[in-house]
Amino acid sequence: MNKNYQNLSFKDFENMEGLDLHQTAQEFSNYIEDWDGRDHWNYRQESLSGCKPDLDVMHKGILYKNCVGLVFNDYLGFTNHPKVKQAAIEAIERYGVGAAASPAIGGHMSYHRQIEEKIAEFFKRDSAMIYTTGYTANSATIQALLKKEDLAILDEGVHASMWEGAQMTNLIKFPHNNMDRLERALKESQGNYRNRMVIIDGVYSQQADIALLDQIVKLCKHYGAYLAMDDAHGIGVIGKNGRGVIELYDLYQEVDIITGTFSKTFGHLGGYVIASPNIIKYLQFQSRQHIFSVTATPASACILKSIDLIDEEPFWKDKLWENINYLKNGLIGMGFDLGNTQSAIIPVMTGNPNLNAEACHLLMKAGVYANQIGYPAVPKKRARIRMSIMATHSLEQMDKLLNAWDWVDRQLLITKKNNINNGDTKKEEQEMERRGN
Ligand SMILES: Cc1ncc(COP(=O)(O)O)c(C=O)c1O
Repeated sequence: MNKNYQNLSFKDFENMEGLDLHQTAQEFSNYIEDWDGRDHWNYRQESLSGCKPDLDVMHKGILYKNCVGLVFNDYLGFTNHPKVKQAAIEAIERYGVGAAASPAIGGHMSYHRQIEEKIAEFFKRDSAMIYTTGYTANSATIQALLKKEDLAILDEGVHASMWEGAQMTNLIKFPHNNMDRLERALKESQGNYRNRMVIIDGVYSQQADIALLDQIVKLCKHYGAYLAMDDAHGIGVIGKNGRGVIELYDLYQEVDIITGTFSKTFGHLGGYVIASPNIIKYLQFQSRQHIFSVTATPASACILKSIDLIDEEPFWKDKLWENINYLKNGLIGMGFDLGNTQSAIIPVMTGNPNLNAEACHLLMKAGVYANQIGYPAVPKKRARIRMSIMATHSLEQMDKLLNAWDWVDRQLLITKKNNINNGDTKKEEQEMERRGN
């Protein structure tokens, strides 16, 4: 085993030749300790404050007070909105705290039906179904709809849950947002499969950019393919009324399967799928994760309030975009590379896993809590610090953040691009494809 842990990633511990379960776990533990010894391990840090723009974080026994929180996809701040919290409390008073059976056999409550009706209406559609998480909404829906006679054509940037859903069918990918390559895939696969489904995100969680939905819809229609889109990061953020990428292009009726999560803008937990009434009926009885698993607890009735608030309190989205633009201008002004962000996700490219980890560590010292994203989520050369902006961040917090980045850059010279790229991007991309990242 190579003991230079700095050059390894999670992937190297997935399937270790010749080692049993305990030996593998021991090796992985050594790897974590090595990273931790350099203060480069920042996963599973403990928030003592919930999802706040200003929070206390505990890490390795050290308390970091009043950090600017940039790790929450709570874009409009609804996790702590008094009306959303009140709705959860009232629902718990009425229904108790659990659903206690899967929806098919007793655990289908009136608040479940209300959420389904409301989220369908939110997208100007007729029918929806909820799942326990956004991850399940994607993986379970695709798994139920596409079989070995079918083909899934995925943008390479889609979320891991879509890749998981496509494991039981045939699968090809096209480079992110590359319409020529999508068209080639559609053309070449014509006549070979029973159903073909193009699978995209609305906003891409790592690239932070937006699907070319108008072109994709046209291609799908032309080549007779279905279209599924997960806009987990677009809802509440994109479109005049916060309906996401589907509103931006005014294509409400053109996407066959819309999926999403209640864990980001809606401030809670759970997933949804929106489709024709017949497809929803089919999923209600054919989707294993729906019929064999309990779904949303009564606290989830708070989602009914957060859906309303998107229309009732549009100023949250305006404030969010003020923050996004303020931060983007500041960081670009300092010379940082933010990729092609078009959303509330702001990536700062560092291009090197160790530099990435060091930047994250220094940011924390300066009172800024952000996520490091590296291989295998993105190739090593595209390592980045990812920040999710919230409407509830204050201008003072944005300034604290900009000052922290200035301080980090003076030490690590990220904007001078003097970092060493130690990644083999092509090989990594192939591996990421195999893993379904
Ligand atoms: C694009 C996208 N889809 C789906 C999910 C999964 O949603 P959840 O965390 O609610 O299961 C995520 C989560 O990060 C995501 O980024």
